[in-house]
Amino acid sequence: MLKNKNIILGVCGSIAAYKAAVLVRLFVKAGANVKVILTTDAANFITPLTLATLSKNPVYTQYFEEETGVWSNHVELGLWADYLIIAPASANTIAKMANGLCDNLLSAVYLSAKCPVLFAPAMDLDMWKHQSTQQNISQLKSFNNILIAPNNGELASGLFGEGRMAEPEEIITFITALIKKDLPLLGKKVLVTAGPTYEAIDPVRFIGNHSSGKMGFAIADQFVKLGAEVTLISGPTAEKSTQQLHRIDVQSASEMLQACEQQFATSDITIMSAAVADYTPVDVATQKIKKNNGELTIALQKTTDILAQLGSKKTAKQLLIGFALETEHEEEHAKAKLVKKNLDLIVLNSLNDKGAGFKTNTNKITIFNKDFVKKEFEVKSKTEVAVDISKEILMLLGK
Ligand code: CTP
Repeated sequence: MLKNKNIILGVCGSIAAYKAAVLVRLFVKAGANVKVILTTDAANFITPLTLATLSKNPVYTQYFEEETGVWSNHVELGLWADYLIIAPASANTIAKMANGLCDNLLSAVYLSAKCPVLFAPAMDLDMWKHQSTQQNISQLKSFNNILIAPNNGELASGLFGEGRMAEPEEIITFITALIKKDLPLLGKKVLVTAGPTYEAIDPVRFIGNHSSGKMGFAIADQFVKLGAEVTLISGPTAEKSTQQLHRIDVQSASEMLQACEQQFATSDITIMSAAVADYTPVDVATQKIKKNNGELTIALQKTTDILAQLGSKKTAKQLLIGFALETEHEEEHAKAKLVKKNLDLIVLNSLNDKGAGFKTNTNKITIFNKDFVKKEFEVKSKTEVAVDISKEILMLLGK
């Protein structure tokens, strides 16, 4: 669950800071990438060297490290993190977080972070009970920061009560459960096609189209985020994919067909956004075709409609989603494709819509379900469109 997750662990000045060493060790063991930020007080309880060695990353304490001359960019750190965990969170840091104070690197990273924030308080029982602390905690909860509640037990002061930081193993269990909740497609296999296909005419020329692959790559990324095991079959494109998915590169419609047929049977959800060539040259010249004075005619034959082929093999457990790119009679054509290709949903793009279509970073879609219920969306970034498509699919799955 934590594999490849980017975790920033913020450690505050509390005797519980010694537990940060175990926590870092557990995160690393679980496959997470960990960067530690220590407040200056925390560095009195646990050395940066210990945490740097365990995390295999430099430990940050200041904006500017005098010895190395390195400037620690709080915005970059905040954006790098998938999760920001503050453990132990002292009463002082909690108060700063609740009130937007920003006088050290950790509080600046907190304000810059866009990811979920979890905090595990550690303090003496009277500090914990104090109205001021409790009010600050309520404030943080209202910001959707997640409290990992302290335990009851013996405290460093020798007193007994609430205020003991949750044990590192409990923190790991807590965050694992949280991640699991955010991953509704854990254990599901998703197949996505993207990009154009190139149909060779001779060794130097091909028939292709303007598809950039951006939409399909955004869809694949979105399903990775939802916890699915994603296979992306892509035609030629400059788009880069994350390492968290299985990418198969193909050139032609027939190669795409072959790859899809290999993957489809085990796929729970298949989304075909590729712009597959409908026709391919009957013969591919083995040498470069030389120009002459007359006209040149290239005989074309129909390719297999991959989506229709998969639709004919689809089982009741599988979901199949297709795209329709139209320039006229858009809705009529899209609905006809939905039925003909045995789809669960069809995503219509019209080249007549501003902000839709090839190479742009935006798209405008309309989705039809099997009952022809129509949902129209505004022009959005392709990343946001991918989220909209995934929501419709989650709805079909009752999630
Ligand atoms: N598609 C496919 N294999 C093909 C052609 C299209 O899998 N040989 C898929 C596309 O990935 C898309 C859907 O079919 O999901 C519709 O593609 P589109 O180009 O809009 O329509 P076509 O079915 O090719 O029909 P036409 O070009 O006549 O509109």
